[in-house]
Amino acid sequence: MTILQEYQEYKESIKNHRMLFSKWDNVSDKIKIKIFLLLLKLLNFLFPKSNLHRLEKSIKFYLGLIDINTDDWNPQQKPQLFLYFGLPSRPWYEPDDYDVFKIVRDILEEGAEDIKSEYLMNIHNKSNFLIPVLDPKEPSAYEYLTDIELTPSQIKNDWLRIDLWGGGEFTEEARYLFPKTVKILSKLESFMDPFEEDVIYVLKPESFLPPHHDAANNYIGCHLGLIIPENCGFRVGSETRSWTEGKTLFFDQSFEHEVWNRSQKERVVLSVQLRHPELSKFENFLYKLFRKLFGNKPHLL
Ligand SMILES: [Fe+2]
Repeated sequence: MTILQEYQEYKESIKNHRMLFSKWDNVSDKIKIKIFLLLLKLLNFLFPKSNLHRLEKSIKFYLGLIDINTDDWNPQQKPQLFLYFGLPSRPWYEPDDYDVFKIVRDILEEGAEDIKSEYLMNIHNKSNFLIPVLDPKEPSAYEYLTDIELTPSQIKNDWLRIDLWGGGEFTEEARYLFPKTVKILSKLESFMDPFEEDVIYVLKPESFLPPHHDAANNYIGCHLGLIIPENCGFRVGSETRSWTEGKTLFFDQSFEHEVWNRSQKERVVLSVQLRHPELSKFENFLYKLFRKLFGNKPHLL
């Protein structure tokens, strides 16, 4: 496939996900979008250092109004909903790359033993708190907004989760079953992406997640290894790494990624989604406003 064909295919997938997610096809929505884009232009003129041109460009691409220059596009990076222009395009980050990552690393790695022991205590108490990541009865936002494809058996058995934080707050289950973890994560709340979820993920023995892309590149994933058997791996872009118990990894899930557990034990990680450190508060605020105004599925917000 040529890069142009790959790009056309990518554009089509964005369009399909957008149609599930946002409303802008009737006349009044189109007018509202035009007003919103004019507002961005005006704000960018008034606050030229605020980088709002990149949000304006990203929204226009999202709506199919402009094209990417394919010479500047990395075809490994295909966020299925929103490509935020002007951010670094790289699959892996190091904790020292940004002060925010250093803080997140230090807090999570310091709390790793407590988080792991809380998880093990809940397992020991046989609390029935893990559910399939992709629920066959109720498709999740993750399924709507990524290109992951799992078999029914994989969906039911292989990949489980407990939601700790979502929609900007901790879940009731997390407060009840994971109070120490909640206390640790609450120190990071100002860095978390309000549109994403913080979750403990369990990948069963001898299972895998096939190559796929997640929804957007304006947040960065952070995993803290909790229980990591031998022969587990995680490829993002063209580089494979593995988790270490008690250590963090930072990565951009808009790059193609896949995960495997070729051991006889469960692999358990805590996953935290952070707003991209290069985005300003102003950009985050306007992006949030855009999603609130034009999202048509409240449960996906
Ligand atoms: Fe993913």
